[in-house]
Amino acid sequence: MQTLRLTPEDTAAAAAILRRGGLVGIPTETVYGLGADGLNSEAVAHIFEAKGRPQDNPLILHIPEAGWLDWYCRDIPDSAYALARAYWPGPLTMILRRKPLVPDVVTAGLDTVGMRCPAHPVCRAILRVAQVPVAAPSGNTSGRPSPTTAAHMLEDMDGRIDAVVDGGPCAVGVESTIVDLTETPPRLLRPGGITLEQLEAVLGEVAVDPAVTRLMGAGERPRAPGMKYRHYAPRAPVTVVAGDPQKSAAYIAQHAGAEDGVICFDEFAPLFAERDVEKLGPAADKGEQARHIFDALRAFDHTGVPAIWAQCPDPSGLGLAIANRLNKAAGFHVIQV
Ligand code: TXA
Ligand code: MG
Repeated sequence: MQTLRLTPEDTAAAAAILRRGGLVGIPTETVYGLGADGLNSEAVAHIFEAKGRPQDNPLILHIPEAGWLDWYCRDIPDSAYALARAYWPGPLTMILRRKPLVPDVVTAGLDTVGMRCPAHPVCRAILRVAQVPVAAPSGNTSGRPSPTTAAHMLEDMDGRIDAVVDGGPCAVGVESTIVDLTETPPRLLRPGGITLEQLEAVLGEVAVDPAVTRLMGAGERPRAPGMKYRHYAPRAPVTVVAGDPQKSAAYIAQHAGAEDGVICFDEFAPLFAERDVEKLGPAADKGEQARHIFDALRAFDHTGVPAIWAQCPDPSGLGLAIANRLNKAAGFHVIQV
């Protein structure tokens, strides 16, 4: 299959491919998604094939406005509308009870569905023209770091999907926050572009699923099925070093082998001048760190380093999402200094 390269002006072409059951790489503000018509079971099945994604891992539906929620969801709590008013369009996915119209293949048979209204203008334009909810996981091969540029998306999907729309680098860089509103209190399943603090400002108490901060044991079932898989992982093993940035940099400098790769805050790059280094962003700028995290993890797959060491921000604000992605890439191999 030849994968078409589309530009932001090609909205109509992208929507037409979706409507006839094809697969399109679409830019969102978080990461690139691998989209298909979410009401077309056959098209959605092709997403799983293209990604090599386990069948028991449900997909989220993307809609152009909150008004579409009622078509696909039932028993919608007031909190969903309050969150939509505060943070949609934006990097937030809500888990709600689904209506029978939503195909089983989207929800992996669950009676809930993840709903998201993305903010990227090109994505919104495609959704509006297509007039279907678009099922879209992150556009990486299953297990690899999520794509934050069209080039990343092509690295994994060239020849496997109908088209990729190049909407530029993603402004957020980590995936949407997932909050389950079918429980009381609501539960954070995946930290992302909307922070826990922002959720609490609207919802009050929010439970944090244990899968966010630690490895799930063999008998445990995380609420977001995707959280159980090794994820975001480059080919080389990753060790995360968490704690005060001065101390974590010193620890890495002392313990990393000469050939090892290092992911560090910008200020500490000179310390690792002899090594293969990916800069995450300034220690105090989590927005920059979020934009760079997946690119940094991907970059080492082109270098063949035997191991990767990474500094990690504190868990406040966007730090919770960045630390979660780093920890998952490391299989939760974390050293606290
Ligand atoms: O930012 C994002 O959310 C990106 C862009 C493309 O929108 N999409 C994305 O999708 O990250 P994906 O499939 O890579 O991650 C969705 C996560 C998975 O861990 C999945 O298990 C979980 O959401 N999920 C989906 N539906 C669910 C449901 N009904 N209940 C619990 N977890 C669900
Ligand atoms: Mg994903």
